[in-house]
Amino acid sequence: MTQKVRKAVLPVAGLGTRFLPATKAMPKEMLTVVDKPIIQYVVEEALEAGIEEFVFVTGRGKTSIENHFDRPYELLDILEKKQKHDIIDKVEHIMPTNTKLYYTRQGQPLGLGHAIGCAASVIGDEPFAVLLPDVVACTGDNNPTADAIKLYEETGKSVVVANEVPMERVKNYGVLNLGKEGLTDDKAEVTGFVEKPSPEEAPSNLAILGRYVLTPRHMEILPSIKPGAGNEIQLTDAIDQVTKEEGCMGSVFRGQHFDCGDKVGFQMANLYFALRDDYIGPRLLPYLQATADKTNRRNTPRVA
Ligand code: UTP
Repeated sequence: MTQKVRKAVLPVAGLGTRFLPATKAMPKEMLTVVDKPIIQYVVEEALEAGIEEFVFVTGRGKTSIENHFDRPYELLDILEKKQKHDIIDKVEHIMPTNTKLYYTRQGQPLGLGHAIGCAASVIGDEPFAVLLPDVVACTGDNNPTADAIKLYEETGKSVVVANEVPMERVKNYGVLNLGKEGLTDDKAEVTGFVEKPSPEEAPSNLAILGRYVLTPRHMEILPSIKPGAGNEIQLTDAIDQVTKEEGCMGSVFRGQHFDCGDKVGFQMANLYFALRDDYIGPRLLPYLQATADKTNRRNTPRVA
């Protein structure tokens, strides 16, 4: 019988340099996709997967994340007086009342592995989920964290969620090295990881997505991990080491998701969720089609 996965670590201490100047005074995780900050989508995915306790590993300038998940008494009071009940619903119930939130600081952005290690005392001797807030998944039937928890419960092994990427893009990701059995029902035994391989060297085209369920052993090992790629303490190096002791499973996620840490993925996420919105969708679509037509016309060279 495996221990229940109740806790999740959300590392939010990164500098978000790809979004400067927007992230000069505002955390990247608070950028909005339609009308919710990125971090709220990720927290909702974890809640849907059964997570009860959250550890946010924060850094300088991230207090708006704490404020966002607080109960906003003054705001609720004003909305109550104005009888804005539909809006009250949107701000009051972001977190169920029994959810526990912990905030701990990563003094310096020394790498993702170091950030996760900062949550060790809150995690204690329990398995835990890790969700990188850059990735926004469209949950419901396809919840990558729920899939990973289920596979952990079935196997008792850590789970790294991956997605298939075109071979020419593997150089941007950590890639799974699968056991000789390969994939069965989109799950596989993992023998190791290769960080940012060339297409020729890549053992697969399964790229780490940013969702994990890890055994407590990772928290024991993280303090001994030396800086690796980019001179940062890499989470992948710790998982690679624990994989040799305990084994590890890979789970392929095929649902819709966006890399909101990247400007293109972020814009796509906004369009995707806006087009699905009952109010925005029907008003935005004709505008997008007309704009796309105009842009196309401008970009098509005239035939002489
Ligand atoms: P990224 O590599 O996306 O870094 O980290 P970043 O600083 O957020 O963004 P850019 O590249 O400068 O634009 C992946 C995740 O790991 C967290 C980040 O907050 C992000 O959620 N992270 C990374 C930390 O919490 N601490 C670190 O030292 C590094």
